[in-house]
Amino acid sequence: MSVSPESHGAGPVLAALGETSTPAYVYDLDGVREAHTRLRSALPAPSALYYSVKANPHPAVLAALCAAGCDAEVSSPGEVRAAVTAGYRPDRIIYTGPGKRRSDVVAALRAGVRWFSVDSPAALDLLSAAASAEGTVARALLRLNAGRPGAGHGLAMSGAPSAFGADLEWVLSEAHRFADRPAALVAGLHLYLATNLTDEAALAGQLIEAIAAAELAAASRSALTWVSLGGGFGAPYARAGTLPSFAGLSERLGPHLDRAFPGWRSGTPRLIFESGRYLTATCGSLLVRVLDVKESRGRTVLVLESGINHLGGAAGLRRVPPIRPEPVSGDRAGEYREAILAGPLCTPLDVWSPSATVPAVRPGDLMRVPNVGAYGLSASLLAFLSHPAPAEVVIDHGEVVEVTRLETVRRELPLPDVLPAGPVETE
Ligand SMILES: Cc1ncc(COP(=O)(O)O)c(C=O)c1O
Repeated sequence: MSVSPESHGAGPVLAALGETSTPAYVYDLDGVREAHTRLRSALPAPSALYYSVKANPHPAVLAALCAAGCDAEVSSPGEVRAAVTAGYRPDRIIYTGPGKRRSDVVAALRAGVRWFSVDSPAALDLLSAAASAEGTVARALLRLNAGRPGAGHGLAMSGAPSAFGADLEWVLSEAHRFADRPAALVAGLHLYLATNLTDEAALAGQLIEAIAAAELAAASRSALTWVSLGGGFGAPYARAGTLPSFAGLSERLGPHLDRAFPGWRSGTPRLIFESGRYLTATCGSLLVRVLDVKESRGRTVLVLESGINHLGGAAGLRRVPPIRPEPVSGDRAGEYREAILAGPLCTPLDVWSPSATVPAVRPGDLMRVPNVGAYGLSASLLAFLSHPAPAEVVIDHGEVVEVTRLETVRRELPLPDVLPAGPVETE
């Protein structure tokens, strides 16, 4: 079934969906490949481009980027599985994230993953213990909390107290705590300062900060074979727009790389960049129907098929009051109007927009959210209210090639052989 790539041709997509109907994410693989070509040509060469699976772990998207030459950056057991299944070389995968359980690390090692971003001395100890028990030696990329995020960034992940990385000052002042462990060699550095910069000068400034921090940390170490400078390559999210151009980025970074890492042009260290959003944002859209249109105290309210359960879950979460866990035991259309865009969930938090300009739609009409190929379904609150997941439609070379739906299955877990005696305390 042939589809026009510009419009994500709703007609053929709806026909392909048949009974399944909306809501539906639509991913255009040509868009993924185009984004990859653009970003690849903007990056210094030689360098490796890692796809951040968290942005969109759909198997077809993963496979398209693997075929285009990306390696994978993963942050969970599920992402390890998805990347390995899609064909990424496990020995080049980087496993990142500030909290890895030993069982997560062991599963990754068994899948062939060898490179782990570590955020603290304790994380290095854990990696070494797990690798040693598995009879192997892992490689650690020491993640640094250093440098100022570029102006206009989305989420900052450095330069302030943070779970991400170890403060550069700490790494420099207590180098022994970040030294090689018996089965975890500190063979690289990892930086990721902030996401979603669309201005080339600001992005270059942030990456130059990362290079400078890496240079400082590298000075006291030998044999750093991989250095990931992270990324922050911006893209439009859930609004119309096109990918920014970073055509001058490579030229801006070149002199800084030459000074900090004189061998980088011949591949030592192997220079790495990471991107999720830029590679996938513009390839995807979400088709939703309008369920209701009504007036409420002088405002128009649109109720849509999807809300924060299918898109924008992380934004929804920011609106809830602070979560304060307590220890359980011990120390531990031509005509537009202004409207509220609400989803179908039974919570006032389920609002995509408190004030949007929308066409004069009616119940049953279809709407499309553009540029949600990244952090769409993968960043939603899918389990909340137990609605079905949206369908996911893949378009390749202008044809609908696949329609799937993510299903969550509740599985019974084995109970321990010996259950504690007496009633279970729930308070
Ligand atoms: C370590 C790391 N790498 C890569 C990414 C991907 O960011 P983006 O999708 O904005 O490119 C993130 C996002 O949070 C990250 O934390």
